[in-house]
Amino acid sequence: MNVLFEKRRSIRKYQSDKPVTKEQLNRLLEAAMLAPSACNSRPWEFIAVTRRETLDEIVRVHPYAMMCQTAAAAIIVVAVPQTGDPVGYFPQDCGAATQNILLEAASMGLGTCWCGVYPREQRIISIRQLFNIPEPKIPFNVIAIGTPDEAPERRGFFEESKVSYIE
Ligand SMILES: Cc1cc2nc3c(=O)[nH]c(=O)nc-3n(C[C@H](O)[C@H](O)[C@H](O)COP(=O)(O)O)c2cc1C
Repeated sequence: MNVLFEKRRSIRKYQSDKPVTKEQLNRLLEAAMLAPSACNSRPWEFIAVTRRETLDEIVRVHPYAMMCQTAAAAIIVVAVPQTGDPVGYFPQDCGAATQNILLEAASMGLGTCWCGVYPREQRIISIRQLFNIPEPKIPFNVIAIGTPDEAPERRGFFEESKVSYIE
Protein backbone atom coordinates (compact mmCIF):
# COMPACT_ATOMS: atom_id res chain seq x y z
CA MET A 1 0.00 0.00 0.00
CA ASN A 2 1.53 3.30 -1.06
CA VAL A 3 -0.82 5.79 0.55
CA LEU A 4 1.18 7.01 3.53
CA PHE A 5 -1.66 7.88 5.85
CA GLU A 6 -2.94 4.30 5.42
CA LYS A 7 0.50 2.76 5.85
CA ARG A 8 1.46 4.59 9.06
CA ARG A 9 0.87 2.81 12.38
CA SER A 10 2.13 3.39 15.89
CA ILE A 11 4.94 0.84 16.21
CA ARG A 12 5.89 -0.33 19.69
CA LYS A 13 8.35 -3.11 18.81
CA TYR A 14 11.42 -2.58 16.63
CA GLN A 15 14.26 -4.72 15.21
CA SER A 16 16.88 -3.50 17.66
CA ASP A 17 19.84 -4.56 15.47
CA LYS A 18 18.78 -2.22 12.61
CA PRO A 19 20.25 1.29 13.00
CA VAL A 20 18.69 4.56 11.89
CA THR A 21 21.37 6.63 10.14
CA LYS A 22 22.06 10.34 10.52
CA GLU A 23 21.06 10.76 6.85
CA GLN A 24 17.69 9.15 7.58
CA LEU A 25 17.22 11.35 10.65
CA ASN A 26 18.05 14.47 8.66
CA ARG A 27 15.52 13.49 6.00
CA LEU A 28 12.87 13.16 8.74
CA LEU A 29 13.90 16.50 10.22
CA GLU A 30 13.69 18.12 6.80
CA ALA A 31 10.13 16.80 6.52
CA ALA A 32 9.39 18.28 9.95
CA MET A 33 10.78 21.68 9.03
CA LEU A 34 8.73 21.82 5.82
CA ALA A 35 5.50 21.64 7.83
CA PRO A 36 3.13 24.59 7.79
CA SER A 37 3.19 26.92 10.80
CA ALA A 38 1.20 29.99 11.75
CA CYS A 39 2.69 33.04 10.02
CA ASN A 40 5.62 30.74 9.15
CA SER A 41 6.75 31.15 12.77
CA ARG A 42 8.43 27.69 12.82
CA PRO A 43 8.29 27.49 16.63
CA TRP A 44 10.28 24.28 16.94
CA GLU A 45 13.64 22.71 17.63
CA PHE A 46 14.58 19.03 17.56
CA ILE A 47 16.83 16.68 19.51
CA ALA A 48 17.91 13.60 17.55
CA VAL A 49 18.92 10.69 19.77
CA THR A 50 20.67 7.46 18.77
CA ARG A 51 22.73 6.93 21.95
CA ARG A 52 21.51 3.69 23.55
CA GLU A 53 21.87 4.89 27.15
CA THR A 54 19.78 7.99 26.42
CA LEU A 55 17.03 5.93 24.74
CA ASP A 56 16.97 3.78 27.87
CA GLU A 57 16.74 6.91 30.04
CA ILE A 58 13.63 7.97 28.09
CA VAL A 59 12.01 4.64 29.05
CA ARG A 60 12.85 5.39 32.70
CA VAL A 61 11.22 8.85 32.77
CA HIS A 62 8.28 8.45 30.35
CA PRO A 63 5.62 5.94 31.48
CA TYR A 64 4.35 5.21 27.95
CA ALA A 65 7.57 5.17 25.93
CA MET A 66 8.62 1.56 26.60
CA MET A 67 9.12 1.04 22.88
CA CYS A 68 12.30 3.16 23.11
CA GLN A 69 13.90 0.00 24.55
CA THR A 70 14.00 -1.45 21.03
CA ALA A 71 13.89 1.78 18.97
CA ALA A 72 17.16 2.71 17.25
CA ALA A 73 16.46 6.43 17.49
CA ALA A 74 14.14 9.05 18.87
CA ILE A 75 13.38 12.64 17.97
CA ILE A 76 12.33 15.03 20.71
CA VAL A 77 10.19 17.82 19.28
CA VAL A 78 10.82 20.94 21.35
CA ALA A 79 8.30 23.77 21.14
CA VAL A 80 9.65 27.30 21.17
CA PRO A 81 6.61 29.47 21.98
CA GLN A 82 7.01 32.78 20.19
CA THR A 83 6.78 35.99 22.16
CA GLY A 84 5.16 37.49 19.06
CA ASP A 85 2.43 34.83 19.01
CA PRO A 86 -0.08 35.75 21.74
CA VAL A 87 -2.63 33.40 20.14
CA GLY A 88 -0.52 30.33 20.97
CA TYR A 89 -0.56 28.32 17.78
CA PHE A 90 2.63 26.43 18.70
CA PRO A 91 0.94 23.09 19.62
CA GLN A 92 -0.65 22.97 16.19
CA ASP A 93 2.61 23.88 14.46
CA CYS A 94 4.55 21.24 16.39
CA GLY A 95 1.78 18.70 15.73
CA ALA A 96 2.06 19.36 12.00
CA ALA A 97 5.85 18.94 12.13
CA THR A 98 5.40 15.68 14.07
CA GLN A 99 2.92 14.24 11.58
CA ASN A 100 5.31 15.08 8.71
CA ILE A 101 7.99 13.02 10.48
CA LEU A 102 5.61 10.08 10.95
CA LEU A 103 4.53 10.08 7.31
CA GLU A 104 8.03 10.52 5.87
CA ALA A 105 9.26 7.68 8.12
CA ALA A 106 6.47 5.46 6.76
CA SER A 107 7.60 6.29 3.21
CA MET A 108 11.15 5.20 4.16
CA GLY A 109 9.98 1.88 5.63
CA LEU A 110 10.60 3.08 9.19
CA GLY A 111 8.16 2.74 12.06
CA THR A 112 7.43 5.45 14.62
CA CYS A 113 5.44 6.06 17.75
CA TRP A 114 4.36 9.55 18.89
CA CYS A 115 4.71 9.63 22.70
CA GLY A 116 2.92 12.60 24.20
CA VAL A 117 4.72 14.96 26.57
CA TYR A 118 3.04 18.42 26.37
CA PRO A 119 0.73 19.32 28.12
CA ARG A 120 1.41 16.73 30.89
CA GLU A 121 3.29 18.64 33.58
CA GLN A 122 5.27 15.71 35.03
CA ARG A 123 6.43 14.49 31.61
CA ILE A 124 7.46 18.04 30.66
CA ILE A 125 9.55 18.26 33.84
CA SER A 126 11.18 14.83 33.33
CA ILE A 127 12.08 15.31 29.66
CA ARG A 128 13.20 18.90 30.33
CA GLN A 129 15.60 17.60 32.98
CA LEU A 130 16.88 14.68 30.91
CA PHE A 131 17.74 16.88 27.91
CA ASN A 132 18.52 20.16 29.71
CA ILE A 133 15.81 22.07 27.86
CA PRO A 134 15.62 25.60 29.31
CA GLU A 135 12.38 27.58 29.67
CA PRO A 136 10.54 29.02 27.81
CA LYS A 137 11.15 26.06 25.47
CA ILE A 138 8.80 23.12 26.07
CA PRO A 139 9.42 19.44 25.30
CA PHE A 140 6.44 18.64 23.09
CA ASN A 141 6.77 14.90 22.45
CA VAL A 142 9.13 11.97 21.96
CA ILE A 143 8.98 10.15 18.61
CA ALA A 144 10.39 6.61 18.75
CA ILE A 145 11.89 5.51 15.41
CA GLY A 146 13.16 2.20 14.07
CA THR A 147 12.61 -0.72 11.75
CA PRO A 148 9.25 -2.29 12.66
CA ASP A 149 9.21 -5.73 14.27
CA GLU A 150 5.41 -5.91 14.32
CA ALA A 151 2.57 -5.12 11.93
CA PRO A 152 -0.35 -3.95 14.05
CA GLU A 153 -3.86 -3.80 12.68
CA ARG A 154 -5.14 -0.48 11.43
CA ARG A 155 -6.86 1.47 14.22
CA GLY A 156 -8.12 4.53 12.35
CA PHE A 157 -11.30 4.43 10.26
CA PHE A 158 -13.64 6.67 8.32
CA GLU A 159 -16.77 7.73 10.25
CA GLU A 160 -19.33 9.48 8.13
CA SER A 161 -21.31 10.36 11.31
CA LYS A 162 -18.50 12.76 12.25
CA VAL A 163 -18.97 14.81 9.10
CA SER A 164 -21.50 17.57 8.42
CA TYR A 165 -21.97 17.87 4.68
CA ILE A 166 -23.02 21.34 3.49
CA GLU A 167 -24.29 20.65 -0.04
C1 LIG B 1 -0.83 13.35 21.16
C2 LIG B 1 -0.54 11.88 21.11
C3 LIG B 1 0.06 11.28 22.21
C4 LIG B 1 0.35 9.91 22.18
N1 LIG B 1 1.04 9.36 23.22
C5 LIG B 1 1.40 8.04 23.17
C6 LIG B 1 2.23 7.50 24.20
O1 LIG B 1 2.64 8.18 25.13
N2 LIG B 1 2.58 6.18 24.10
C7 LIG B 1 2.14 5.38 23.05
O2 LIG B 1 2.50 4.21 23.03
N3 LIG B 1 1.37 5.90 22.05
C8 LIG B 1 1.00 7.20 22.09
N4 LIG B 1 0.28 7.75 21.05
C9 LIG B 1 -0.14 6.91 19.91
C10 LIG B 1 -1.65 6.59 19.93
O3 LIG B 1 -1.92 5.68 20.97
C11 LIG B 1 -2.03 6.01 18.56
O4 LIG B 1 -1.80 6.98 17.56
C12 LIG B 1 -3.50 5.58 18.48
O5 LIG B 1 -3.75 4.51 19.37
C13 LIG B 1 -3.91 5.13 17.06
O6 LIG B 1 -3.07 4.09 16.59
P1 LIG B 1 -2.23 4.28 15.24
O7 LIG B 1 -1.24 5.40 15.48
O8 LIG B 1 -1.52 2.97 15.03
O9 LIG B 1 -3.18 4.63 14.14
C14 LIG B 1 -0.01 9.11 21.05
C15 LIG B 1 -0.61 9.74 19.95
C16 LIG B 1 -0.86 11.10 19.97
C17 LIG B 1 -1.44 11.76 18.73
